[in-house]
Amino acid sequence: MPSKIRWGTLGCGSIARKFIEDLAYSKYGVIHAVGSRSAARSKTFAQELNVPKSHGSYEDLVANPEVDIVYVATPHPFHMEHTLLALKAGKPVLCEKPVSMNARQLKRMINAAKDRRLFFMEGMWTRFFPALQQVRKWLLDKAVGNLLNIEADFGIAFKAGPSHRIHNPQLGGGALLDLGIYVVSLAWLVYMAEPKKITSVVHFGPTGVDDQSTLIFEYLHGATAVLQSSSRLAIRPEARIYGTKGKIILHENFSCPNRATLEADGKNPQTLTFPHPGRGFQYEADHVAECLHKGRPESDQMPLKESLAIMQTMDKIRRQWKLKYPGE
Ligand SMILES: NC(=O)c1ccc[n+]([C@@H]2O[C@H](COP(=O)([O-])OP(=O)(O)OC[C@H]3O[C@@H](n4cnc5c(N)ncnc54)[C@H](OP(=O)(O)O)[C@@H]3O)[C@@H](O)[C@H]2O)c1
Repeated sequence: MPSKIRWGTLGCGSIARKFIEDLAYSKYGVIHAVGSRSAARSKTFAQELNVPKSHGSYEDLVANPEVDIVYVATPHPFHMEHTLLALKAGKPVLCEKPVSMNARQLKRMINAAKDRRLFFMEGMWTRFFPALQQVRKWLLDKAVGNLLNIEADFGIAFKAGPSHRIHNPQLGGGALLDLGIYVVSLAWLVYMAEPKKITSVVHFGPTGVDDQSTLIFEYLHGATAVLQSSSRLAIRPEARIYGTKGKIILHENFSCPNRATLEADGKNPQTLTFPHPGRGFQYEADHVAECLHKGRPESDQMPLKESLAIMQTMDKIRRQWKLKYPGE
């Protein structure tokens, strides 16, 4: 592995652009190549972002021997196909969230990575921000005692039409898969357990996918999580974690946090701010690079068994709603 990991992004869309821009702040990674279904698009995209190499097909991108890792940045229904394509070409993979449409797909992806002994991780970028690392430390130190409740919300009032991927079932539309994954993943990070009971209220938009939901998770030890996601309402993306001895707040936007507050009983509230350049994809990229340099088959911060448990929870929620996607 070279000292700087050379990234290849599969798909030239909105998040690929942001990821590439943030690689400028990465300690251990550089962008090397982009791949698109269209040669013209990949060429223009590469020129705009100063990427050395452009490929007019995903197959050509994953076959490039100078690409050390592939970042899958296509809509979620294609995550499995594109991850398998890269793994079969011998490339480690970082795949955007949600890592798959369902747990069945993710099991295939995990097996493929394990069979080939290749690194594979879900791109849940939230976990790698210093503010979230600080919150993890407070949780481990029991700074707010025993954890009893989480409230986490994430809503964006999308103005896009029905063909946009947030609404279009063919592109994995729905607020749960796109935004709800953040609140469900955070609940997992805090309790490290699957909920024993899930209660939910959902609203479906005109394209037949969820555009708003409230989830209540109940855990074996009596703790709860109250989680909201919406693609029709702007709901402040903040998370509050309550324990027997206080509260932790991950301030807006908790999906890419740079500020966290500890309010421990009997002490002055402590707010810590972690400024960073760019949007913050560099933290995730550098964690992946460290894993590759150390020869780790997977991440200890976003382990595959956790991604799988989270997808299983998402499947359970969708079963309650009787929401199936094309091909399921
Ligand atoms: N971490 C985050 O903060 C974050 C934020 C937004 C989105 N995401 C995730 O990133 C993924 C992509 O989202 P995005 O907003 O970047 O989407 P997007 O702008 O629509 O881009 C997706 C790209 O995927 C490729 N693609 C391949 N097959 C496609 C198909 N049948 N239809 C449409 N596009 C296709 C296209 O690239 P080519 O035409 O160049 O091949 C397209 O530009 C999603 O899974 C989403 O959940 C993550």
